[in-house]
Amino acid sequence: MIAPSMLSADFAHLADEADVVTGAPGVGADWLHVDVMDAHFVPNLTLGLPVVQSLLAATSVPIDCHLMIEDPDRWAVGYAEAGAHNVTVHVEAARDPVALAANLRAAGARAGLSVKPGTPLEPHLETLRHYDTLLVMSVEPGFGGQSFMPEVLDKVRAVRRMVDTGHLRLLVEIDGGINADTIEAAAEAGVDCFVAGSAVYGADDPARAVRALREQVLTASPHRHWSA
Ligand code: DX5
Ligand code: ZN
Repeated sequence: MIAPSMLSADFAHLADEADVVTGAPGVGADWLHVDVMDAHFVPNLTLGLPVVQSLLAATSVPIDCHLMIEDPDRWAVGYAEAGAHNVTVHVEAARDPVALAANLRAAGARAGLSVKPGTPLEPHLETLRHYDTLLVMSVEPGFGGQSFMPEVLDKVRAVRRMVDTGHLRLLVEIDGGINADTIEAAAEAGVDCFVAGSAVYGADDPARAVRALREQVLTASPHRHWSA
């Protein structure tokens, strides 16, 4: 799955920017990744629930909300209630991530848990049993256009093994520095869903960039199957 990150899109034309990458299944964006930042959990400020609500009304592509905010226990469910398909919170910010996952699911969304590059998975394996997606950050969260950190692929490989052996049921997502030079290594490590911001919206033809990234994934991992 390819999830263009709207952080690198034109914020004055979000509906048009969503349209640009919308296409048939297996061709256009599978999810639209929307980065919510509060200038506290990360040193950047983007958009919040009202903008996400407007975007939900303007596109048919499932919305993947990545909440880089403090106190997600309080705020995340609103995004699920609004109709976001997947709502991801940071394990470093959540107070009760198990209860939060249950609340997100009860509100109709998939529950996602994200780990910053320096956050290990081992202390959170039990928590992950309650989640539908794991978002592995491959840059420090906060800004688009940073360089991919290949060392996080050890976490991807570890969680891939746990999923393939039935110890976890999760979709593995990666976010940060994914482009034509890095996506194949991430695919080989076992990523299911690739977030790409500057590599899509920084391209002359974003729809073509999505197709090209997908081609690279299929070449790198021809026998893997996943479902949205
Ligand atoms: C960064 C955000 C990413 C960002 C990725 O904190 O979570 O989703 O848009 O941008 P690129 O793909 O340019 O690294
Ligand atoms: Zn993100």
